[in-house]
Amino acid sequence: MKPSRGNIGIDRISMYTPAYYLDVRELAEARGVDPDKYTIGIGQDEQAVIPSSQDAVTMGAAAAADLLAYIDPERLGLVILGTESGVDASKAGALYIHELLGLPHTVRVMEIKEACYGGTAGLLTARDYVAAHPGAQALVIASDVARYGLATGGEVTQGGGAVAMLVSENPRILALSADSTVYSESIQDFWRPVYTDEAQARGKYSTEQYLEFFARVWGASGLSAADCAAVLFHLPYTKMGAKALARLAELDAVSDELRARFQSSIAFSRRVGNLYTASLYLGLLSLLCSSPAFEGQLALFSYGSGAVGELFTGRLVEGYEKFLPDVNALLDARRKVSVGEYENIFRDAVPYGPEDYATNPDYYCGPFVLTGVVGMERQYARREE
Ligand code: CAA
Repeated sequence: MKPSRGNIGIDRISMYTPAYYLDVRELAEARGVDPDKYTIGIGQDEQAVIPSSQDAVTMGAAAAADLLAYIDPERLGLVILGTESGVDASKAGALYIHELLGLPHTVRVMEIKEACYGGTAGLLTARDYVAAHPGAQALVIASDVARYGLATGGEVTQGGGAVAMLVSENPRILALSADSTVYSESIQDFWRPVYTDEAQARGKYSTEQYLEFFARVWGASGLSAADCAAVLFHLPYTKMGAKALARLAELDAVSDELRARFQSSIAFSRRVGNLYTASLYLGLLSLLCSSPAFEGQLALFSYGSGAVGELFTGRLVEGYEKFLPDVNALLDARRKVSVGEYENIFRDAVPYGPEDYATNPDYYCGPFVLTGVVGMERQYARREE
């Protein structure tokens, strides 16, 4: 039987974050800040610490490697990396991932950039691609290092990691609706010039714009909270999601069930921090892994500074719980680093200059590493764990 063109979505999903984390209470003490500000005011507990051997490519490849068993080389037609911490201003990071994973050459490979919206742009593009190419698979990878700088206002909202999603007809996890509501407008709330790896943010303004964009697309969508089993938000830090839920409560009635599911959706983000393009999808994983199996429609709000806000929906597929990765095991296996060690790791960054550079093998982790930069070319390697 030819599969239905209307039933397209996330067939498989996986996640990766490096093996180190920082306790934000310890960070607060080192910065002379009340720890409650970070744990309650910002809503974070832990933050992923990203060594220079890990970047959007290695983390994206690590997440996608877990989906290789489900990829049919005859059906795969599209590979997209959504990232705002891309490793090259020209070549798509997805091509490095494509090579590390040994994917077929008969596929479109590209990178999409629009801040944290890039993962959603990839997912919805993949959905449309599969609709136009019945039977095809598309691989979407959202991967980022969220980096603001030591002792900056944004430091507590750093983090990093990747989520990979395989999109096809008759998905096993989430069937995506063909409809969505989007709003785009050029604003200057958050950006990263090409000569630095640290984001610039007008912090307060960015949070206000996030909420404005949410209210706008929610209002235009015609959605009712009562029609949703859960509402998921882009999570730069979990308090931002709580603010969005509060805004929703001003616009519509929010049930106790929606509030409880929101709490489930932020559990992983509290431990990893911001994953930029992947944050919304870490929230999806958190909700599905942390709640008893349920059914119904999910609403997902994606926000990418600059800015694009898009609200879309998906319906959970019966039995989805059998196809989820063990994210808790990945997070529990990480090693805590002290603030001093985090600062050393932070300072050992790939230089923004033409000189050769070697990453520190003491901080190699995951199945793929950046070993260094030679003659301005990044050197990637597979590693036996
Ligand atoms: N106990 C409990 N709460 C406390 C506290 C204490 N002792 N001290 C302060 N707080 C609370 C404050 O009341 C405040 O709460 P509300 O937001 O509810 O008012 C909260 O802690 C934050 O404190 P500040 O208002 O002083 O904020 P800040 O100056 O520390 O900056 C930030 C916070 C703007 C998020 C900053 O970390 C930042 O710039 N982060 C990067 C930008 C960002 O993440 N923006 C999000 C929207 S943009 C986006 O979504 C795209 C993306 O991924 C970046």
